[in-house]
Amino acid sequence: MPPDTEHAPQKVLILGGTAEARLLAERLIAEGHLVTTSLAGRTNDPILPAGAVRIGGFGGAEGLAVYLRTEGFDRMIDATHPFARRISENAIKAAAISGVPLEQRLRPRWQKQPGDRWRSVTTLEAAAEVLPSGATVFLALGRQYLDAFVGRDDCRFVVRMVDAPEMPLAFADYTLVLGKPASDPDREADLFTAYGVTHLVCRNSGGPAGYAKILAARRLALPVVMLERD
Ligand SMILES: NC(=O)c1ccc[n+]([C@@H]2O[C@H](COP(=O)([O-])OP(=O)(O)OC[C@H]3O[C@@H](n4cnc5c(N)ncnc54)[C@H](OP(=O)(O)O)[C@@H]3O)[C@@H](O)[C@H]2O)c1
Repeated sequence: MPPDTEHAPQKVLILGGTAEARLLAERLIAEGHLVTTSLAGRTNDPILPAGAVRIGGFGGAEGLAVYLRTEGFDRMIDATHPFARRISENAIKAAAISGVPLEQRLRPRWQKQPGDRWRSVTTLEAAAEVLPSGATVFLALGRQYLDAFVGRDDCRFVVRMVDAPEMPLAFADYTLVLGKPASDPDREADLFTAYGVTHLVCRNSGGPAGYAKILAARRLALPVVMLERD
């Protein structure tokens, strides 16, 4: 009888950093695979997935290809955040260089629903431009996306971050909210109300994890500047 290759245990590298990647690691381990999840090391206290974990960049596509080969992975799964583009591009190149098959598991984007007041933009600069003067803007963005808004000193910003920044942010007028997004829309709505938020700026990341803020904005009829992926 030929070997059952479909169900044979495999050595799998998951490019992670998302809730979906953690679920995937759990599932593959339960199926008997040997799983290593790779994290970029952006947050101080990441929720670690089941299985082996490695943290830090690979040194570009070539570095990732070398890692795949030397560690003898059978396959690689890209389960990174949809806005983490460089690592996804590197994964495609590394798969080509190393010959290790790549599977992409990128979440679908959110779709506008009745009651949503979205203004879709494709660049951070456009997101900053469309904000009206005097707005109190909740920035639900990673820290690497904030610079584009710094010049809008006619707006107030409420900036949510998982970890405290090492240096004060460059905004003329801002409040820092430390912590992860709540999964309960009521809590997100309470937060927006408490800070007098008039506009939400976020990325169309898809998935359930960040959707509570979208539901909260819908309930409060808040305009949302939605940064779409290309
Ligand atoms: N972007 C977001 O909004 C966001 C939100 C939630 C979670 N995340 C997670 O945070 C990580 C970093 O996001 P990013 O937007 O900064 O990525 P990125 O811009 O696509 O990647 C920048 C560099 O970081 C390293 N890197 C990224 N993801 C990695 C991973 N999973 N394992 C090892 N190295 C990784 C790579 O360095 P080398 O070239 O040296 O290999 C990559 O070239 C991703 O894993 C992503 O899933 C991102």
